[in-house]
Amino acid sequence: MTLHTSRRTLLTGLGATALVAPAIAKGLVSWKGNPFSLGVAAGAPAADGFVLWTRLAPEPLAEDGGIAGPSRAIGYEIATDDSMHHIVQRGTALAESEWGYSVHKSIKGLKPGRPYWYRFTSGSASSAIGRAQTLPPHGADKLRFAYFSCSHYEYGYFSAYRHAAYEDPDFGIFLGDYIYEYAEKHPDKHPTVRTHSGGKECETLAEYRARYTQYRLDPNLQFLHQMVPALLTWDDHEVQNDYADKWGEDFQDPAAFLKRRAAAYKAYYEFMPLKPVFSQPHGPNMRLYDRYDFGDLMRLDLIDGRQYRSREACYDHQKAIGQRGGGHVETRGSCPELFEADRSMIGMKQEKWLFDGLATSKARWNVVGNDVTMARLRQKNKDGELGWYTDGWDGYPASRARLMQHVADSKPSNFVAITGDIHSYWANDLKTDFDDPKAPTIGSELIGTSITSYGVPYDVFAQILPDNPHIKFFESRKRGYVSVELTRERMTAKFQTVSDVTDPAATLSTLKTFVVDDGNPGPVEA
Ligand SMILES: [Fe+2]
Repeated sequence: MTLHTSRRTLLTGLGATALVAPAIAKGLVSWKGNPFSLGVAAGAPAADGFVLWTRLAPEPLAEDGGIAGPSRAIGYEIATDDSMHHIVQRGTALAESEWGYSVHKSIKGLKPGRPYWYRFTSGSASSAIGRAQTLPPHGADKLRFAYFSCSHYEYGYFSAYRHAAYEDPDFGIFLGDYIYEYAEKHPDKHPTVRTHSGGKECETLAEYRARYTQYRLDPNLQFLHQMVPALLTWDDHEVQNDYADKWGEDFQDPAAFLKRRAAAYKAYYEFMPLKPVFSQPHGPNMRLYDRYDFGDLMRLDLIDGRQYRSREACYDHQKAIGQRGGGHVETRGSCPELFEADRSMIGMKQEKWLFDGLATSKARWNVVGNDVTMARLRQKNKDGELGWYTDGWDGYPASRARLMQHVADSKPSNFVAITGDIHSYWANDLKTDFDDPKAPTIGSELIGTSITSYGVPYDVFAQILPDNPHIKFFESRKRGYVSVELTRERMTAKFQTVSDVTDPAATLSTLKTFVVDDGNPGPVEA
């Protein structure tokens, strides 16, 4: 996209409200409030189209969004310019009552590798104009994307999302913890700047919907979705901290937990620009993991590390000591289960899907969008014994070893994991054996810090670095995201950081830049 057109749209986009569009208005529907109060989004790009999203909510803070009754047909238009003069498609899309009056309109028949602009209309109301983008064609040689994780609404303002939108990347990749399900109970320890909807942990569909509504009314996040097409996977907080398949961290009955997961997944689908049919949930099940080919420049596999994973190893140990379940540190002696070969981070079916995709890829760069830390973090427990943290890939060592060995054997070109979850920046070598410094480096991992969530304790993690020579960089005291420029020869990842999450006008700077050169695995500081 040219800077000229993008900036014009950017400047008119922030804080956009319903505009009158005389060419479209038919006067058939009159809205008391702006039905497009939650904004617009594009996602799930293909070479010839994408999915367009909105959700009708004339009174967004009312439990029903201020809308009832049957599904509504609304209009949409797609143009090749940001002023919507050159319309290339228009039609109707359904805001489905069963899915909270959300719209997931699959668009086809467009040209690859270019931006489009779109808007929705209903009666006299018109949405803000959003930008979408098709995937590039074979032979494309440049791509820009940013990736994000861990935006806790209570802990700060989403300035990082605003700055990311102004950087004008082709795509934005969300790696999980898009919302947080809980409300901070100890603001004396973790100060908050604003309060989560309902003031409590989400458990029901109404509560998850209210939480997503609150996030989408944030002007910075709404602006990012309007300007930057989204690719998505999730982590735990879209449902509950550290959940694994049907096991919650409160040792809930799995059947009850699955009901809660169904509510959380339904709300997630309703609020995200995801493929209809493919990603529409069925009860507690929802297909999210997916593959995107950016011509032959990049293959992006977005994996689902929560829905199919084996239960965290030695889950019951936490219960026995009166602690919450989920991630904790175990040793070889304390938890033989940890090393069982049939345990998997992503489930055997998804492992096969991922491995097949890596083995057959013709792409120059093979990027996996992943929720939790892939590299080994060798750490010791209080008795000085080597430990494994059970919620990350360290908790699934056999599954990780299969992946690392598969990459070593099938040799996909330039394997890179981009990762969220741990609220800190990391640049890691990926190895077939993390305990052997002489083992080959077979890929790279670049972990982005959180948008706002508190970082892991710096001193604690800095102490483990000497035991982890494959870790090239760690910083947990900064919030932000990662901005990537990709060419056939090089991946350049800028660790972008905001000045202060408690300042709504926080400024942006680059903390570090790491590069990965074609054919040379392992990130190197630029
Ligand atoms: Fe997080």
